[in-house]
Amino acid sequence: MAKRSLWGSKVGFLLAAVGSAVGLGNIWRFAYMAYENGGGAFLVPYVVALLVAGIPLMILEYALGHREKSSPPLAFARVNPLWEPLGWWMPTVAFLGINLFYVAVISWCMNYFCFSFTGAWGADTGAFFYGKFLQLSDGPFNLGGIRWPILGGTVLTWAIVWLICYREVSHGIEKASMIFMPLLFVLTLILVGWSLQLPGAWTAIRDNYLHAEWSKINPFDAEGIKVWVAAFGQIFFTLSLGFGIMITYASYLPKKTDIVGNAFSTCIINCLYSFIVGFAVFGTIGHMAQAKGVAFSEAIASGPGLAFVVYPEAINQIPVGGRIFGALFFLVLIVAGLSSAISLTEAFACSICDKFKMSRKTATSIICGIGLVGSMIFCTNAGLYILDIVDHFINNYALIIGGIMECVLVGWILKSGVMRRHVNRVSSVRLWPVWDFIIRFVTPVILLIMVGGALKNEFKEAYGGYPVFALLLIGGGILFFTRMISFVFSHVKWDPVQLKERHHEPEEDDLLV
Ligand code: ALA
Repeated sequence: MAKRSLWGSKVGFLLAAVGSAVGLGNIWRFAYMAYENGGGAFLVPYVVALLVAGIPLMILEYALGHREKSSPPLAFARVNPLWEPLGWWMPTVAFLGINLFYVAVISWCMNYFCFSFTGAWGADTGAFFYGKFLQLSDGPFNLGGIRWPILGGTVLTWAIVWLICYREVSHGIEKASMIFMPLLFVLTLILVGWSLQLPGAWTAIRDNYLHAEWSKINPFDAEGIKVWVAAFGQIFFTLSLGFGIMITYASYLPKKTDIVGNAFSTCIINCLYSFIVGFAVFGTIGHMAQAKGVAFSEAIASGPGLAFVVYPEAINQIPVGGRIFGALFFLVLIVAGLSSAISLTEAFACSICDKFKMSRKTATSIICGIGLVGSMIFCTNAGLYILDIVDHFINNYALIIGGIMECVLVGWILKSGVMRRHVNRVSSVRLWPVWDFIIRFVTPVILLIMVGGALKNEFKEAYGGYPVFALLLIGGGILFFTRMISFVFSHVKWDPVQLKERHHEPEEDDLLV
């Protein structure tokens, strides 16, 4: 069997993992979620989600990838061959469910990066974004035509992703992460520093970001449960859990590796990044609200509206250097987005290489080609609607179900004790037995409640006001389609040697259990 690629350095791996985690979700999703869901109080469900699901699952994914030295389908198949379809589902969802629209959004950021210099969005930034830029149609089924500027950025993004994933891990993803991540941190610090000194920034931060509305997070009322579901969904998305990425990245680690330490570092750096960048978002919008004399609640918007309508409007209000400020903001989004898009591609590419014994070059070339074709639907006039529906279904169901399945596989089928002993053999920081309890009981039960809560909301009101038929066809369709692909791929037979052989020596403790 061909030798598996390895990361060149510890820091290279950590930066790549953080690069996957820190993405568009940290910048526009977190800040708005915090605002809508109780301000500072949102940090409670967020930190609970981090502790009971985020960190334990990060350890699990790192441990599984490291122990099996393989992509998710092969790792799942080695634990139990019947579970292979679920091992396929995660990277398939990451690639076909998320990456296709993720790349299109990076393209929007590229376009807006250029618009920052010309101020093309003018005074009515909403009319510009929905009207002139997206030329949004009247519904998800009215695709209209292709928006060429968006397709242009999409082609460029896929080309960059391909160029990086095409090379060996240590030459491609690792080198790119060594450039992207320090660059991202420096740019972000400049952005935050600049935002904080804008007039009105601190008041907005104090009253809207840090101020806690405790009544919003009561898990025993219908509205409160939504906040908890949102916090868990955000933790999964932001930490890139349930995508198979962290399993894949950990499969390139050398034998002696601090799994627990790396898992903690990845989670903490990522969540701190979200929290810090929130100061920039609230500060900038607060400044705009003050300059226009409107309430903060009237100034802020959700999702893409935050980055592409509210931010340009806020940039218009910055007295000195607004254009540079705008370019800086969109550059931060591009860099954060690219490192995540690379990881979303890598998990799927690695799975294909493992199963079909394809070279990395061939696999990434085919995959990026398919990715480009698939992303084209998000370059149409209905792209934003389809993106919104797909994002909702993948976040609320696919990722969380993936998390539950991982817990069952490792906690019950493999036995969490086996995995914990593996972690303790290779890590310098010890993993306590309480992890077994969390992985076997706490995380899956909470995640099940979250999926139940999300489903209940689905029956109560149609998400986003879309027609039920559109939700079923697009949202249900993406879940069904990715499941079908997983079944088809898992029916291709493994080479029996590959299924048995790991690159590690057999581990005595495993034989005892
Ligand atoms: N973890 C990535 C993000 O937050 C996917 O955008």
